[in-house]
Amino acid sequence: MHIDILTLFPQMFQGPFGIGIFKRAVERKLVSINIHNIRDYTHDKHHTVDDYAYGGGAGMVLKSEPIFEAVESIKSDIKPRGDMLPIILLTPQGRLFCQQIAQELSQYSSLILICGHYEGVDERVRRHLATDEISIGDYVLSGGELAAMVIVDAVVRLLPGVLGSQASPLDDSHVTGLLEYPQYTHPAIYRGWSVPEVLLSGNHAQIAKWRREQAILRTLERRPELLDKANLNLEERQLVNRFKNHLHKEFFHHYQRLLQLLLYLLCLNTLLIH
Ligand code: 6GU
Repeated sequence: MHIDILTLFPQMFQGPFGIGIFKRAVERKLVSINIHNIRDYTHDKHHTVDDYAYGGGAGMVLKSEPIFEAVESIKSDIKPRGDMLPIILLTPQGRLFCQQIAQELSQYSSLILICGHYEGVDERVRRHLATDEISIGDYVLSGGELAAMVIVDAVVRLLPGVLGSQASPLDDSHVTGLLEYPQYTHPAIYRGWSVPEVLLSGNHAQIAKWRREQAILRTLERRPELLDKANLNLEERQLVNRFKNHLHKEFFHHYQRLLQLLLYLLCLNTLLIH
């Protein structure tokens, strides 16, 4: 895969892409990443990339010309597999990034990412250049650079060969639609906290069953909304329902206790007054 990133701050990308799985992936030619400075595509003396907003208002807006010219220059150098080349604008107004979008993007042979900045980007970039707009969450960052790094990280680790045969992304949280099960390594007992017995048993069927159950329960506890979309069989749905019932019963039990206490206090209060 080839990734081109357009930014006003190329220095920001120096750290993350030079280490770990990225470095290996680049060395093994599984991915290549080019960072382009939008400022290099300006023609005026001051290398102007932004300007005042028409209609007034605070803040500057990124100009169309350097971004269009940068993308056109980059496009002329790449031949995407098939004819689809995503040109993605990073903006808090985009569709919300998730594992499924990471998987979708990992299928392309090339990507172009445009990092927005300041108060915004000229609307014509959105309308007539970008083919997609992505946000990484419901909060505002000062620029699209960190979002681009997040997306590139999530996509590159899905490319064939990047993680090697050992670590498979198949069990990852969100790939199965569930959060990942608890993991343990040596020692078997640390400060008195022991590893669950079943993991030491060597019984692979039991271990797989335990992990699946733990993933389901963990998802139910922390992100119950994910369970609606997860692929659970009948037995697993029953497990979820049993656990939910258990939680409900517990809740009502406490609620009942609280009511009893209130009633008691009320009676006591009445007795004391009279
Ligand atoms: Cl892609 N850009 C900015 N500036 N803020 C964000 C974002 C992107 N995603 C979430 N917040």
